Amino acid sequence: MRTQVVIIGSGPSGLLLGQLLTNAGIDNVVLDRVSQDYILGRIRAGVLEEGMCQLLDQSGAGARMHREGLPHDGFELTFSGRRHRIDLHGLTGGKRVMVYGQTEVTKDLMDHRAATGGVSIYEAENVAPHDFDGASPYVTYEKDGKTHRIDCDFIAGCDGYHGVSRKSVADKGLEEFERVYPFGWLGIVSEVPPVSHELIYANHERGFALCSMRSTTRSRYYVQCALDDRVDNWSDDAFWDELRRRLPAEAAEKVTTGPSIEKSIAPLRSFVAEPMRFGRLFLVGDAAHIVPPTGAKGLNLAASDVHYLFEGLQEFYGEKSNAAIDAYSQRALARVWKAERFSWWMTNTMHRFPETGRFGQRMQEAELDYLSQSEAASRSLAENYVGLPY
Ligand code: APR
Ligand code: PHB
Repeated sequence: MRTQVVIIGSGPSGLLLGQLLTNAGIDNVVLDRVSQDYILGRIRAGVLEEGMCQLLDQSGAGARMHREGLPHDGFELTFSGRRHRIDLHGLTGGKRVMVYGQTEVTKDLMDHRAATGGVSIYEAENVAPHDFDGASPYVTYEKDGKTHRIDCDFIAGCDGYHGVSRKSVADKGLEEFERVYPFGWLGIVSEVPPVSHELIYANHERGFALCSMRSTTRSRYYVQCALDDRVDNWSDDAFWDELRRRLPAEAAEKVTTGPSIEKSIAPLRSFVAEPMRFGRLFLVGDAAHIVPPTGAKGLNLAASDVHYLFEGLQEFYGEKSNAAIDAYSQRALARVWKAERFSWWMTNTMHRFPETGRFGQRMQEAELDYLSQSEAASRSLAENYVGLPY
């Protein structure tokens, strides 16, 4: 088989890039090692920046997001028993975010790819990129007991943090930067109305909590937990009690509890791999970087990577120029590092760090108190949360 771009990974990065390429008449094939159902079974965060929404519209898969997504003009910070609303819309000259599950984004992109004739190969085993240092790269994979080869011009490594693409360049000058946080997030999904129409990020001396949602009838909640904590240590009642302890009283009283339909613990890390381009192989999305979910930047960074790479590939095939693909890594990393900083700052400000003790808690409360009284500080938070320009 031959195509112009092989995309390894059928998550949001790979599917969004694949659809933009298809729409531009650039032939591509998406490979994934698991099934579509497995991919759609993953519970993921759900805050989309306007740039991501625009790319989803540009791909042609944005209709359901506009029908079912929830536009949000602000969110709340709670600390020291107080509540402070960050007026995203007012502080950023009219920008907002869209609350719409990333699993839904993935499903919409999968459905649109199928409807527009995109070639996707699932349950492809031992996918491996080859000869990407030269001008004739290719990818091999195994399926149905046979080894297959796809010759191409470019390979997009959209295969996430545990994928093969970054591993394939580990000895080619790759440099990695990482911070692993000393706690995790215990998250549940419950078919109950959210406690508030906007998200609530809670700083509390017992630990961080987040009140989010998937719809007006389905809520997503998180509490900070120990790294070695286990889901079966937490009954639903224990979760609800801990969540309410970490919220101001008037919010805690309004929490509607119910049975969890999903309950899991996720670790938090900041991670960046540099550079993001190796000859004809590009690292995209989680394959190149991970952010702690506190700033809701994971999918949104994948979107800006896709934007830069799509521009580069369009220019290569359209104007026969390498300029934009040569600039991909530098352009993507400039935005990645600013989002890493914001996610790191928000994680450090909102979570309890045992090693910093009560002084550290007071520093966090002072920073949040300052932020609640400074329009400049709130504007800085708001412009990072809605997403910095591409
Ligand atoms: N071969 C083929 N496919 C692979 C391989 C491999 N060796 N390794 C991983 N994959 C596939 C996974 O099965 C997965 O479907 O690559 C895909 C990677 O998808 P994500 O992990 O979702 O990464 P990405 O698309 O970059 O997502 C960016 O969106 O889903 C959110 O929070 C998530 O921050 C992330 C963001
Ligand atoms: C979510 O809805 O899962 C969510 C929202 C905002 C975050 C993280 C997760 O910062």
